[in-house]
Amino acid sequence: MNLKNKWVIYSIGGIVLVWGVSLIAAKILVPEWNPPKRHTGFILNEEADAILKQSCFDCHSNETKSYWYNKMPVISVLLARHIQEGRKELNFSEWEKRPESKKKKAIRKSLEEIIEGEMPLPPYIFMHPEAKIDGNKLEFLKKIAKTKWDVEPELEEQY
Ligand code: HEC
Repeated sequence: MNLKNKWVIYSIGGIVLVWGVSLIAAKILVPEWNPPKRHTGFILNEEADAILKQSCFDCHSNETKSYWYNKMPVISVLLARHIQEGRKELNFSEWEKRPESKKKKAIRKSLEEIIEGEMPLPPYIFMHPEAKIDGNKLEFLKKIAKTKWDVEPELEEQY
């Protein structure tokens, strides 16, 4: 076998190996991509929940959508980590499990994370520009949070 052929075979082998290991690692991090538990009822109201669904549910619920890049090497592991950590912090599909005080806290924290530009995670917004919560959406979420839960962010807006 000449040197060039060898090199091609090694590269392909390397890619396949990294790919395989990434898929297995992602599977270990998130063994069940979408567990069956769903939240019926509303977290805020119909319109506000639609915003949360579009911007937060891929990491904070059991309704994570699949995208073409989900199975790309390395990306799949990063994604699985985000989903695993995101659900651990806050899983909207298990909303009913939270006592009232924790629901309020989650809503306040969520508003604060959005104001600070921490959520949705910036790399996610890069891939899903429609998930960005702009000023209008934020004002709307704040209004519903106030009327439904009597909750306000304890932060000044920075933009
Ligand atoms: C791409 C995945 C992803 C998306 C999309 C996402 N989050 Fe997160 N979220 C995470 C991860 C990972 C953590 C835990 C690590 C951290 O705090 O940065 C987290 C943590 C949080 C926390 C807890 C923060 C704390 O310090 O207590 C809140 C609240 C939160 N997210 C709200 C939201 C809201 C609201 C949205 C939608 C507007 C959203 N997230 C969208 C991945 C995501």
